[in-house]
Amino acid sequence: MTEGHHLIIITGANRGFGESVAKTYLESSEASALSYVLVGRNQEGLQKVLDTLKQIGASTNVTVKGLVVANVDLADTHKLDANLTRIQEAAKQLRDESIQSKNIITKSILVNNAGSLGDLSKTAKEFTWQETRKYLDFNIVSFVGLCSTFLQDTLAAFPKDRYPEHKTVVISVSSLLAVQPFSNWGLYAAGKAARDRFLGVIALEEKGNNVKTLNYAPGPLDNEMQADVRATLGDKEQLEIYDGMHKAGSLVKMDDSSRKLVLLLKKDEFESGGHVDFYDL
Ligand SMILES: NC(=O)c1ccc[n+]([C@@H]2O[C@H](COP(=O)([O-])OP(=O)(O)OC[C@H]3O[C@@H](n4cnc5c(N)ncnc54)[C@H](OP(=O)(O)O)[C@@H]3O)[C@@H](O)[C@H]2O)c1
Repeated sequence: MTEGHHLIIITGANRGFGESVAKTYLESSEASALSYVLVGRNQEGLQKVLDTLKQIGASTNVTVKGLVVANVDLADTHKLDANLTRIQEAAKQLRDESIQSKNIITKSILVNNAGSLGDLSKTAKEFTWQETRKYLDFNIVSFVGLCSTFLQDTLAAFPKDRYPEHKTVVISVSSLLAVQPFSNWGLYAAGKAARDRFLGVIALEEKGNNVKTLNYAPGPLDNEMQADVRATLGDKEQLEIYDGMHKAGSLVKMDDSSRKLVLLLKKDEFESGGHVDFYDL
């Protein structure tokens, strides 16, 4: 049975895993109406994804609305305030429309998907503080800004006493590196671990407010980021493993992984603040 109206904000929704989550959510969640905020740098790519979602919605009887917030470079902290405001305004517009249409939002989800690898040719002793700061600006500072503004706005719009049924979910697209170190992944591992722990803290702070958080490690995906890993990773042993998986066709298909994530959210049985890996499910 499909039911509920979900607001879902996805960063890096124009391609890769973000695009896959956007589509799979529409196909496999319990929602009968979906309002998307698609965030990223590439206007054309994001609009194309939104158009496709609307087409799928029309053929599957799910009401799809959405807004694109483009030209958002999450590594640029000079523009972060302005970009967060644009994202907040888009979400507010969709919330307001849901009230006007008397199909009010029942679940609000933020998918922190956009991310970068850092320079995998280097070991920790080679990082400069400048590249470290740039890496953390994108993968931590912007992430915290997105989570905080999303929680403030959502909890203000749907206070528990007036909307006891409304649920809020914050997701970080995480990685095995958040819980296990491997050579050459210094910035990436530190960034993912920090994000995991930040969502762990939110889970405790907001557990009385119908808020859950989830760190989902999608597995080694058969996509562009994985191709970048194989082209740049400085550690030979790991390279052999990834090359072997690529040749054997055993890298994880993005839609298989995003479907597991969406079904996990639908069942709503995951432990808030926890870390769940594709291979655990
Ligand atoms: N691929 C894997 O094997 C794998 C494994 C574990 C975890 N993950 C995680 O999965 C998430 C999605 O990655 P993916 O595999 O889909 O990688 P991807 O194909 O490289 O996509 C990355 C996404 O992030 C966006 N992005 C990059 N830099 C940005 C910036 N400065 N500001 C705003 N958006 C930016 C990209 O937009 P543009 O098109 O504008 O570049 C793109 O939409 C990441 O958090 C990654 O760490 C991936």
